[in-house]
Amino acid sequence: MASPAVLVLGIVGSGIMAAGIAEVALIAGHDVVVRSRSIRGANDVAARVAKNLDRRVERGKLDAATRDDALTRLTVTAQISDLAHCSIVLESIVEDMDSKVALLRELDTVVSNRAILATNTSTLSVSKLAMTTSHPNRVCGIHFFNPATTMPLVNALLFPYLNNAIKMMERGTASMDDIDTAMKGGCNFPMGPFALLDLVGLDTSLSILRTLHEASGNPADAPAETLLRLVADGHLGRKTGQGFHTY
Ligand SMILES: NC(=O)c1ccc[n+]([C@@H]2O[C@H](COP(=O)([O-])OP(=O)(O)OC[C@H]3O[C@@H](n4cnc5c(N)ncnc54)[C@H](O)[C@@H]3O)[C@@H](O)[C@H]2O)c1
Repeated sequence: MASPAVLVLGIVGSGIMAAGIAEVALIAGHDVVVRSRSIRGANDVAARVAKNLDRRVERGKLDAATRDDALTRLTVTAQISDLAHCSIVLESIVEDMDSKVALLRELDTVVSNRAILATNTSTLSVSKLAMTTSHPNRVCGIHFFNPATTMPLVNALLFPYLNNAIKMMERGTASMDDIDTAMKGGCNFPMGPFALLDLVGLDTSLSILRTLHEASGNPADAPAETLLRLVADGHLGRKTGQGFHTY
């Protein structure tokens, strides 16, 4: 049987999701080009991917030769023109409409007419994003779950649940630790809502909740006050070392 075609996957962004998706695609045998706005950000993705692959080897989940081969297939760059030969480019930058539109318009002029432009947006309208490009029919949404390396899932219930956990804590119904413990022990979730919010990133969570709130118009969907305050203070979760918990 023929083996699956090897893609040249371009990924734009250097955040949590970009690095995880790069790792998944490399392990699946594809060539990956990661483009960040700065070469520092791009090199940082390469370092995180290498560290995670090393960890897989140490745990006996990947052999050293496969890791070495995967790393030879990873290119990082700050130049958008280095994505020109990609058959698919997935943007995974900040959850902000204007930033994504500006990027997709730029990508539109760089990649071939046959290339697919994909977005990892959590809540923004893929159709609206597509309509800002010259070939809307080649734009699609591919939403990865976090951590991309372990989660094959897309789940629309998640953010209202996370928001309501914060509001429950604000009302004094239960403490943050008690809610995390209850959801792990009672529902068998791998982590509680506050730990998950910190993992996702509080700024990303807030953008998602704002979009959901705008779409529903329901005051009950408004982002929780504590989330607004933490983001305003620059406490974005694991990525800054401080969120609901300290890391
Ligand atoms: N974090 C999650 O759990 C999760 C899950 C699924 C999808 N997503 C989506 O993935 C995308 C990225 O999320 P993340 O959690 O990796 O974010 P992140 O905060 O870790 O990274 C954001 C990236 O965007 C870049 N960036 C910021 N402003 C930019 C701009 N104006 N132009 C170009 N690049 C810019 C940053 O340098 C950084 O590389 C978002 O659309 C988010 O909704 C996130």
